[in-house]
Amino acid sequence: MGWVHHRRDLGGLFFIDLRDKYGTTQVVFRPDDDQELHAKAGELGAEYVVAVRGEVSERPDGMVNPDLPTGDVELIARELIVLNASLTPPFVLKEPVKASDELRLEYRYLDLRRPHMQRLIEARHVAAQTTRAYLTEQGFTEIETPLLAKKTPEGARDFVVPSRVQPGKVYALPQSPQLYKQILMVGGCDRYFQIARCLRDEDLRSDRQPEHTQIDFEMSFVTEDDVFAVAEGLMQSIWRAVRGDELTVPFPRLPYRDAMLRYGSDKPDVRFGMEIVDLTDAVRESEFRVFRSTIEGGGVVRCLNASGCAVWSRKDIDTKEELAKKWGAKGLAWSKVEGAGLAGGISKFLSEVEVAAIIERAAATDGDIILFVADKETTVARVLGNLRVVLRDELSLVSPDDFAFTWVTEFPLFARNEETGAWEAEHHMFSMPREQDLKFLETDPGRVFGRLYDLVCNGFELASGSIRIHRRDIQERVMKVVGISAADADRRFGFLLKAFEYGAPPHGGLAPGLDRIIMLLTGEDGIRDTIAFPKTYRGLSLMDGSPSDVEQEVLDELGIALAEKRGAAPGESGE
Ligand code: AMO
Ligand code: AMP
Repeated sequence: MGWVHHRRDLGGLFFIDLRDKYGTTQVVFRPDDDQELHAKAGELGAEYVVAVRGEVSERPDGMVNPDLPTGDVELIARELIVLNASLTPPFVLKEPVKASDELRLEYRYLDLRRPHMQRLIEARHVAAQTTRAYLTEQGFTEIETPLLAKKTPEGARDFVVPSRVQPGKVYALPQSPQLYKQILMVGGCDRYFQIARCLRDEDLRSDRQPEHTQIDFEMSFVTEDDVFAVAEGLMQSIWRAVRGDELTVPFPRLPYRDAMLRYGSDKPDVRFGMEIVDLTDAVRESEFRVFRSTIEGGGVVRCLNASGCAVWSRKDIDTKEELAKKWGAKGLAWSKVEGAGLAGGISKFLSEVEVAAIIERAAATDGDIILFVADKETTVARVLGNLRVVLRDELSLVSPDDFAFTWVTEFPLFARNEETGAWEAEHHMFSMPREQDLKFLETDPGRVFGRLYDLVCNGFELASGSIRIHRRDIQERVMKVVGISAADADRRFGFLLKAFEYGAPPHGGLAPGLDRIIMLLTGEDGIRDTIAFPKTYRGLSLMDGSPSDVEQEVLDELGIALAEKRGAAPGESGE
């Protein structure tokens, strides 16, 4: 039984590729065997669901298909039952699929029939089962936390659910189980995990969906090393189960500062070198005014060595400069390496000593091109970090079958919001400040580093976590820095603060994003197809048409009145 994948007519014979989840089998209908049966087969269209009974027989010489696991046999049909007909599918279920993303999402049930999609679903299943087995073996207990929850801030907007029985009140769908898992530690659960749905109303991207899944875990009485060891073992077992790869552990650790300096990113792709090189002290006195004045103004000068790219034309360089400007740079200075010296671009402004320093630090050799950015440190990091990734792809410097995991550690606890100037939590406000920095909490929040960490792989943030605050006094001090007053803290997080006063143990944890893990494991370039029923960038589910209009009765029952419908078509505006 299965679906009619394809029908061929060959000299009066009908060949049907019968497909199901496990593969395809060729079925032959011969007019000489049974005319009625043959005629019936002639009516089958693509994606009809059929049952066929017959004899498995070896294919005649010359008809064997070595590319197919069933390629040396065929089924000689004796009986055919049409279990269901199908309309003509809006796209052909062939690999690679040619249909637009919109069409594939609208007809998700057709798209899911493709072997490629089945492989993704299978990989996700294996990863989830491996996670359960591994964490159980490590002494973790799977515990569910509420979906109708108290707001938990993770830096996105909440999806809210109005309560009918408590008029005027709302639940929030959890952005993560963060507070509940911490309370479970206070509750003596010691080692918790959950394959948890997390819901966030945020701007979507190729690696961001409004609902995603985390392998959420938390442990009591631990340090970073304990959490890392569990995560490393987890990644090893998942990679082994899904890909048969053996990951080397422990994963290297990279302080946030070094990540920004060397890779211009807190989620660096360390599969390849091409590291950013700092030149600030070497060009402080430079005749090139841009460098000198930037440094005088407190900025930095850094460069990338685009190895072997001296062949670039002026136009190639201009294209890179355009990109750099789009990312916020004022320009992109350059110099080509010729022999043991520099030529072209800004070379004429550089002294012999400066040239020697640049060549040595960038390990430059004949045929390279050096790209410089002078600006404030964050801009330089962003521009050169982005450029490094563009060069990685242009120059094919990495293979998708390589996986380079890195822990990024020693993050600052707070970051300043560039628009408002207010301090915000770099990760979330439940992360423990480093002991030695506690004294700066009130006086100089920018100097406070947190015990928080990310697990990064191939340029993606796969997981985030921290050792948590477990004391009310420290939690209140941190909340104050991010502008939450004592009264506010009590209203929003009173339950947590209260729990901390009844013998909360020290604890910490991590949450790897399952969707991103599957994306990397399967070589997908986004997370959308790792999810059976994903949303578009605009938050729509094209198959079922959600979100959809809400009936007046439902609103009445909830005591909700809609403001003028935003973006409604003319003549459609609501009450
Ligand atoms: P964070 O918000 O960093 O941490 O999320 C943890 C991991 O979840 C994945 N992720 C997402 N994947 C797809 N779509 C999204 N919109 C999305 N948002 C996050 C990422 C990310 O690394 N409670 C903390 C974890 C902790 O401290 O234990 C948290 O949620 O892979
Ligand atoms: P100018 O002197 O402005 O013509 O710039 C000379 C070169 O320096 C051009 O290639 C510019 O792109 C580059 N440039 C200008 N400002 C910067 C900067 N802040 N960082 C790096 N390169 C720059």
